[in-house]
Amino acid sequence: MSENSVKTTARYVDLRELEYDGDDVLVVGGGGREHAIVAKLRESKRVGKIYGAPCNAGTNVIETGLSATDIDGIVEYVAAHDNIKMTVVAPDDPLSMGLVDRLTERGFRAFGPTKSAARLEWSKAYAKDVMRRYGVPTAAYGAFTDTEQAKAFVKSGKYPVVVKADGLALGKGVIICQNEAEALAAVDEIMLDKKFGAAGNEVVIEQFLTGYEVSLLTFVDGVNYKLMPTSCDHKRALDGDKGLNTGGMGAYSPCPIFTKELLDKTVKTVVEPTIAAMIKEGAPFKGVLYFGLMVDGDDVRVLEYNARFGDPETQSVLPLLKSDLYEIFNAVIDGTLDRMRVEWSDKKSINVVLASGGYPLGYKKGCPISGLTEVDNDVNVFFAGVKRGDDGLVTSGGRVLCVQAAADDFATARKKVYDNIRKIKFEDCYYRKDIGAKLAER
Ligand code: AMP
Ligand code: GLY
Repeated sequence: MSENSVKTTARYVDLRELEYDGDDVLVVGGGGREHAIVAKLRESKRVGKIYGAPCNAGTNVIETGLSATDIDGIVEYVAAHDNIKMTVVAPDDPLSMGLVDRLTERGFRAFGPTKSAARLEWSKAYAKDVMRRYGVPTAAYGAFTDTEQAKAFVKSGKYPVVVKADGLALGKGVIICQNEAEALAAVDEIMLDKKFGAAGNEVVIEQFLTGYEVSLLTFVDGVNYKLMPTSCDHKRALDGDKGLNTGGMGAYSPCPIFTKELLDKTVKTVVEPTIAAMIKEGAPFKGVLYFGLMVDGDDVRVLEYNARFGDPETQSVLPLLKSDLYEIFNAVIDGTLDRMRVEWSDKKSINVVLASGGYPLGYKKGCPISGLTEVDNDVNVFFAGVKRGDDGLVTSGGRVLCVQAAADDFATARKKVYDNIRKIKFEDCYYRKDIGAKLAER
């Protein structure tokens, strides 16, 4: 049996015992997004063994024992394993720490942007500055390293207003303020109390935008790009988009309300100008460039850039990819994406995250997970907060699993996902019941 035929969902197989041919790949990152990447790489005939730094117990990769931010450790590991032909860097932290630069300097192939290109994500002030200088539509804003200037700007503005820490803050550094008192308090929390650490050395204060959000992910090789199908994340913990912000409770793809006309316009006003901007900045972007968009009628503005695949959007988008992901990664690294055909299924895809009750606040860990082998063959279960216990898999994080299915219509895909979720059991399992609910009615 080759690794490529291992089912990428529930069953655990010790992959070290299997025979392989093809290039070995190291995937950095250990969540549901990385599992979706690993699952797609396994479909490639050109991929041999897959290593994880760290990956999780459910993903069935060869464990390196390295964390995603152990930059020195990862570089040394790759140097010591001639068989590893590519390192795929999925999360924001190692990208912002320059892992791709470090690997490339040593002559190793790495998928992901350099530290200076990833700055589009790790500095919101830089991202806004790029948008302003190159005419990419976004919310009006000011950026400040001085607390008093930030407060003076807040006082002169309209409400609501959005106060953001400049740096990476696990998606939590964004505070929507309804009035002046809230905005002044947000500036203090970020800049003086350093609620998000050094990420708050600078703040971005911007106009509050209304509309709906769309995620547009693109493969970019520095110059050429290929669009992925659009997607839509569900960030709030509770049904009806209520409750606290989370890392994402589910997603669907494509986003039908975002028409072809809107997409074409976005390509001309957002995608192409951003890629051209990064060339002019001397930091051509190679990797996955994620455009977080706010759409209001035919007005499309950028809320944020991410320098990577989104989580959980990837778990809906990548299963739709019909082309070879490893070949796409190679074309991105080599700058030959223009010569590739990247094909997508036109099916509708939905994923729902199964979380530990209490997430994003406190929750239990170590609860046994059962029912995974009952899941239908055409349904994917991507693993996130999972580890191996004495008698099988147990929970180890807030977002535990992500169940995904695709079908000809959203109603069928949605039914498949929720029918299968009911087969999976762990204590205090919590999930949103309304992912894609409005779509299914269409
Ligand atoms: P960001 O990390 O900048 O994308 O912000 C996280 C979330 O905050 C976004 O996905 C939006 O839901 C919300 N948000 C950020 N900026 C704005 C804005 N200018 N207007 C309205 N909502 C925003
Ligand atoms: N789903 C949003 C993100 O990956 O940042």
